[in-house]
Amino acid sequence: MSEIYYPNPEFAKDAAIPSMDAYWELQNKAIEDYDGFWKGFADEKIEWLAPYDKVLDESDAPFYKWFTNGKLNVSNQCIDRHLDTKADQNAIIFEGDKGDAEHITYGQLSTRVNKMANLLKNEFGVKKGDRVVLYMPMIPEAAYAMLACTRLGAIHSIVFGGFSSEALKDRIEDAEAKIVITADGVFRKGKPYMLKNVVDDALSQGGKSVEAVLVVKRNNEEIAWVEGRDHSYNEMINAQSDICPFEPMDSEDPLFLLYTSGSTGKPKGVQHSTAGYILWAQMTMEWVFDLRKDDVFWCTADIGWITGHTYIIYGPLAAGTTTVMFEGVPTYPDAGRAWKMVQDHNITQFYTAPTAIRLLNKTGEDEPKKYDLSKLRVLGTVGEPIDPPAWKWYYEVVGNSKCAIVDTYWQTETGGHMISPLPGATPIKPACATFALPGIMAEIIEEDGTPTPVGEKGFMCITRPWPSMIRNIWGDPERFKKAYFGDCKKDGKPVYFTGDGAMMDEDGYITITGRTDDVINVSGHRMGTAEVEAAIKKHDAVAAVAVVGKPHDIKGEGIFAYLVLKNPDDASDELKVAINQVIKKEIGAIALCDAMAFVPDVPKTRSGKIMRRILRSIVKGEEITQDTSTLEDPSIVWIIEAIVKEA
Ligand code: WT7
Repeated sequence: MSEIYYPNPEFAKDAAIPSMDAYWELQNKAIEDYDGFWKGFADEKIEWLAPYDKVLDESDAPFYKWFTNGKLNVSNQCIDRHLDTKADQNAIIFEGDKGDAEHITYGQLSTRVNKMANLLKNEFGVKKGDRVVLYMPMIPEAAYAMLACTRLGAIHSIVFGGFSSEALKDRIEDAEAKIVITADGVFRKGKPYMLKNVVDDALSQGGKSVEAVLVVKRNNEEIAWVEGRDHSYNEMINAQSDICPFEPMDSEDPLFLLYTSGSTGKPKGVQHSTAGYILWAQMTMEWVFDLRKDDVFWCTADIGWITGHTYIIYGPLAAGTTTVMFEGVPTYPDAGRAWKMVQDHNITQFYTAPTAIRLLNKTGEDEPKKYDLSKLRVLGTVGEPIDPPAWKWYYEVVGNSKCAIVDTYWQTETGGHMISPLPGATPIKPACATFALPGIMAEIIEEDGTPTPVGEKGFMCITRPWPSMIRNIWGDPERFKKAYFGDCKKDGKPVYFTGDGAMMDEDGYITITGRTDDVINVSGHRMGTAEVEAAIKKHDAVAAVAVVGKPHDIKGEGIFAYLVLKNPDDASDELKVAINQVIKKEIGAIALCDAMAFVPDVPKTRSGKIMRRILRSIVKGEEITQDTSTLEDPSIVWIIEAIVKEA
């Protein structure tokens, strides 16, 4: 598909960035005067409690510092500073799984966040710098908890509710959390689903730093209770005062940690900063979603992922808009649920993942036509490359051929969007992330830093630091340097490697081609192959394992495991089920394998490195073009190929 879709002129005339000329004006300003570009926005957008004295400090690269010595508080930026003008405007519209809805104004949000901050401070002694783990469903109390931490300067670390007790325990221990905030459970597809028991299991295995567990009531199911450790939010919250002064935070104080997968077995605690993060969250909300007065913004992510952090909570609230939080799934009670919500809440921007678009298309192709979606202006996608058929359906049927689609490319580590169309400016090529946003210096290069020729695949890199970038891996600065900054330098400074491949066409459009490392993208979620392999190896029958991504109609990629058994006679379907059970216990249901094959061995080089590229080709049914002569046993490739073909 090489058509170009131009911005709707009606829409473009009032857009935040209304033309490519306006885009280039901004981008050229950034190129000419990088510090001045960022200073202008930092001064305009942020309510500083004390001024910063330097825009960007690169003296300890790649440990960059932005807006040094400035003071601010993100809960002030998201709540208090709006109260004069927006106390009665909805901050959050919550819709529960069963259709129950709650509208929370900025005034009410303020009251509830202040009370929760007081609860954390007065009852549990939570203070600046403490780590607080959230294992929460998508309910308003999750937002209150995040903002209450922020108010006190405590560092939250949200663990997605689909992770297992083992995974939760590991994250609690790595962050040395003082308190865990959770809920009894959640409603999903009309049924109760439990969370508190997972916290109990995690803490029975470890997590000794945890002094208290704060439990919010949601589904009212019976739960176990550990006297002295467990505390009821609902019983304690009313007694709290609704005034809790916010802590003045340094620009570079950590705002939150969020664990993500990398190429080793241990997840990385991505550490984000206060000022730079909130600035870019707010700017991208305004630019990429072209926010206007009275907009209602719905991002379907879970707060357990970066998309939920930046585009359900921090970005929308910093920008003073109304954000939608949804507890359920978009296909329950039927495939029209999402579109009914768009209609009922007058949603103007809808932001979701390609996997959800494919699912909604497959299960309810004509459903969007049954609802009034006329308020929609911008549609967004994130998490993985979108395929042209899904793009087309989204554009024509959901957007009625009048909404811009923003294919936003970014990562947990980037904090906010990096490459994306601007809805009022960019002529869009379907399924293409298009151009770097103003202020972002994106380049496609070879490992040594030389530019990749047009039309060829190279490494997607960002060559200048940007405000919302990852600051560190919690407790592991060496890993931070190694994981993101190779030896490659530009103008003497380290270059950030995203881990993705990309290609630029003759018009300068960037298309993301997928990961270049051992990471699989399952339904827009990042899974490290090493992490899944480490889980599988815990099963006694397994001698060796290699895991690769396998193309999947809905999920984008599913997980495929090659298993080498200690005793080949153990091979059975029951064993596959048992291995998936181990994965569920170690990581969670999100990492289950779609398929497995028992093989006599996996292809390894003479130095013992598994040749995953060959295994990927085999599972895709592609011809093997890789050189197999360097393998310890080249014949294994043909044996495995035959086994997989047969299965
Ligand atoms: C990885 C980051 C960013 C929030 C959701 C996932 C892939 C992300 C796109 C896109 C192609 C994309 C990349 C990236 N990705 N957006 N628009 N087109 N690929 O966050 O878990 O940190 O994963 O998702 O591979 O590196 P994450």
